[in-house]
Amino acid sequence: MLVSIYPFVSAFVIGPQKPKMTNSMTKKFYMQTDLESISHLKTMVGNTPLRKCSFLSLRYHTNVFVKEEFHNNPGMSSKDRPALFMLEDAIRGKKIKKDGIFVEASSGNTGVSIALLAKRLGYRSKIFISGKTSVEKTDLLKSIGACVEICENSNGLEDPHSTQSRAQAFVDENPDAYFTNQYYNPQNLHAHYQTTGPEIWEQTGGQVTHFVAGIGTGGTISGVGKYLKEKNSTVSVWGVEPRGSVLAGFLETGKLPGGKVSFDCIDGIGRNFIPGSFDPRFVDNIFQVDLEGTRATAHEYTGKTGFLPGFSSAAVLAAMDRHISTMNLNYLHTLVLLFPDHGSRYLSKLYTPNKSTLTA
Ligand SMILES: Cc1ncc(COP(=O)(O)O)c(C=O)c1O
Repeated sequence: MLVSIYPFVSAFVIGPQKPKMTNSMTKKFYMQTDLESISHLKTMVGNTPLRKCSFLSLRYHTNVFVKEEFHNNPGMSSKDRPALFMLEDAIRGKKIKKDGIFVEASSGNTGVSIALLAKRLGYRSKIFISGKTSVEKTDLLKSIGACVEICENSNGLEDPHSTQSRAQAFVDENPDAYFTNQYYNPQNLHAHYQTTGPEIWEQTGGQVTHFVAGIGTGGTISGVGKYLKEKNSTVSVWGVEPRGSVLAGFLETGKLPGGKVSFDCIDGIGRNFIPGSFDPRFVDNIFQVDLEGTRATAHEYTGKTGFLPGFSSAAVLAAMDRHISTMNLNYLHTLVLLFPDHGSRYLSKLYTPNKSTLTA
């Protein structure tokens, strides 16, 4: 008989034959490893730096900080936060089989985050993007191994050719697929309420007076706005969207415009419908910016600071520039601008000269 000098190991190495795993045991085993992996991913997502921008602080005579979401996050954007929350919810709630496919409709960043994090957890992904998504993001998705479907637009479920409708149709036909659906998934807002909001509060030592972010699904602004307003109801929460988008008007009047909506094409922000992830109770004002102004601001900012803002980050900067006279800021204020990603994702679209105006 073999005798091991390691009595505990011997039980596994030379002990009695291992009992066969039943289906339910296998499932349990997989669930445990999934949840362990999620805990590990949670240590990698978020906790992004907040840096003071002296250029903007001097320009606007106030204290301007930038929340840099392209650092730390493995997918290099703020979208890792909702992606991880949505994946965790689906896996914990057994809404997807172990070998299932995660599906998302995305302007690119959420798709990248879903594809990357799903892969780390052993799942496949299929991402529906609009044809206007930057070539850098499209290539990134393919490099991660996501199956990419290019759609006509991202105009919501009413349009059968939109990313959202095509994603929904795919899931309806494929029982192994699960649609994370950032536009309506409560985990989107919740992720920012649980992580981004508290980080900003702590990093400013509770001094934040204004929060400014672009609006796409509305998850970031609503989740952060909810958290900050619970901490201090006087914090101003300002959104930014492209000219022609419907959220600013909706916030003001509670109504949507009639007829066909067309808005300037700025990656990640702007809508012709009200996403379920947008909660107007936590947003005080929405500024609109145009594509030309956003492009010019991006170039000016790069020229002055050497930093390449992402497309929607440049829109936030353009909103500051264009609307500063109505903002009533002073040296006692502390503004936090959220930069969801980095300009390197838009070299071909934003930083290449002489690109014509695109509308969504
Ligand atoms: C680059 C970029 N900026 C802003 C947003 C808008 O964030 P949210 O969807 O949380 O409103 C997105 C969303 O996809 C984005 O990708």
